[in-house]
Amino acid sequence: MIHIPKAEYSRRRKALMAQMEPNSIAILPAAAVAIRNRDVEHVYRQDSDFQYLSGFPEPQAVIVLMPGREHGEYVLFCRERNAERELWDGLRAGQEGAIRDYGADDAFPITDIDDILPGLIEGRDRVYSAMGSNPEFDRHLMDWINVIRSKAHLGAQPPNEFVALDHLLHDMRLYKSAAEVKVMREAARISAQAHIRAMQAGRPGLHEYSLEAELDYEFRKGGAKMPAYGSIVAAGRNSCILHYQQNDALLKDGDLVLIDAGCEIDCYASDITRTWPVNGRFSPEQKAIYELVLASQEAAFAEIAPEKHWNQAHEATVRVITNGLVKLGLLEGNVDELIASEAYKAFYMHRAGHWLGMDVHDVGEYKVGGEWRVLEVGMALTVEPGIYISPDNQQVAKKWRGIGVRIEDDVVVTKQGCEILTGGVPKSVAEIEALMAAAQVRAS
Ligand code: GLY
Ligand code: MN
Ligand code: MN
Repeated sequence: MIHIPKAEYSRRRKALMAQMEPNSIAILPAAAVAIRNRDVEHVYRQDSDFQYLSGFPEPQAVIVLMPGREHGEYVLFCRERNAERELWDGLRAGQEGAIRDYGADDAFPITDIDDILPGLIEGRDRVYSAMGSNPEFDRHLMDWINVIRSKAHLGAQPPNEFVALDHLLHDMRLYKSAAEVKVMREAARISAQAHIRAMQAGRPGLHEYSLEAELDYEFRKGGAKMPAYGSIVAAGRNSCILHYQQNDALLKDGDLVLIDAGCEIDCYASDITRTWPVNGRFSPEQKAIYELVLASQEAAFAEIAPEKHWNQAHEATVRVITNGLVKLGLLEGNVDELIASEAYKAFYMHRAGHWLGMDVHDVGEYKVGGEWRVLEVGMALTVEPGIYISPDNQQVAKKWRGIGVRIEDDVVVTKQGCEILTGGVPKSVAEIEALMAAAQVRAS
C-alpha cells in the first residue's frame, strides 16, 4: 500500500517549527467523531492538518509542538490502551505506541490534558492554533490559558499572542513533496480505473446508483477507505446540477451521464469527471459540446507551468468556450465583448479548477498581495471546465437543452509544465466510444 513514509511527518513538524517564532507553542486537535444517528458513528476521517503533522489516525488526540524544548519538542496526548474498549472498537496506539510508532518525544493520556497542558503553555509568548475552526477546542484553549492567568500572582506567565496556524501550515500543504505526489498518483490511478469500470458497465435501463456501485467497488478494491467527496452520478438533465448527489435516476437511451468521483488514499484526494453517452454513442449535439469542453481543457493545460499565474488556465477555458459557443450559435456577438460581459456564465458558471491535496478543495491562497498566485513546482490542482445547457433555457434551440458536460483531471506543476495524474481514463470521443463498444460486445 502506497503511503506517506514516517520520516516525512517528522520533516514536516521540523519545517513548521523552523517557521514558528522563538518561545512559542502550536496546539492542534484531532477530528472529533461525528455521530450519524443514535449510537452509530460516521466513518472516522482524521483532520487534514492533524494528519499532515502526525499521521496519527485516532480521535481524541492533541498534538503539541514546542520548538527548542529540551525535554522534547513533540508531545502527543492520546487515548490510553484499554483492553475492554479495544475488544469492542479496535486497537489503540496508547502512549507507548505514540512514541514508538508515531515519533512523539513524549506522550500523555488525553484524560490528563487539563492538568498537563497549562504547564506546557505557561511561559511561552505565542500560541499557534487553528482559531475559529473548532469552537469547542477554542473554548478548551481559553480554559487552559485562564488556568495560567489565575496563577499570575504566583508568577505564572500567560502567553500574550495568539496566532492563526493556518497561514504557515496551509502554505506548506500547498507544495506537494515527491512522496505526496506518489500517493496522489495512486489515488488517481484507482479513480481512473473506477471511471473506466463505470463506462464499461454503462447502458440504458440501469440507474445512476448502479454506476456509483461500480465506482465504489474499484475504490475499495484499490485500498481506498472512502471517496474523497460524495460521488456525483448525474444522467440526462441532472448533469446540469453542478453538485448533484441524489444518484437515483434511470439511465435513459440518448442521455449523457456525468460522473464526478474520486477516491482518497492515505488522506489524499483525487477528483475526476468524465461525461459519456449512456448508449455508447454521442449524438451530434452532445459531441459538439463535449469536444468544445475538451478543447478548452487542452488550452488550460498549456497554461499550467511555473511562472504562469493561477488565473491563466481559467482565462484560457473562458476564451475557448465563448468562441465555441458563438460558433455553435449558442451565444451571439463579439467574443471579446461576450468575455468582458461574462455572457459565458449562463453556460459555464464555475472556475476551471481548485487546489487539490488532502482536502479535495485544498488549502492554500489563490491570491497573494491581491495578485493571482504564480504557479510553482509541486502545486497540485484540478482542471475542470464544463458547459451546462439548462433544460429550461428557452433562448437556445431545443436540441441543445439538458446537455451538461464537465471534464476534470488532476495535475501537478512540474519544471517543464505539468504532469496529468489522471490520464488513465479515456477522454476523446473516439476512445470513449471504442471502450464502450468493446464492453457491449463482451456483454452480448
Ligand atoms: N468534486 C467537486 C469538484 O469537482 O470540485
Ligand atoms: Mn474538482
Ligand atoms: Mn470533481
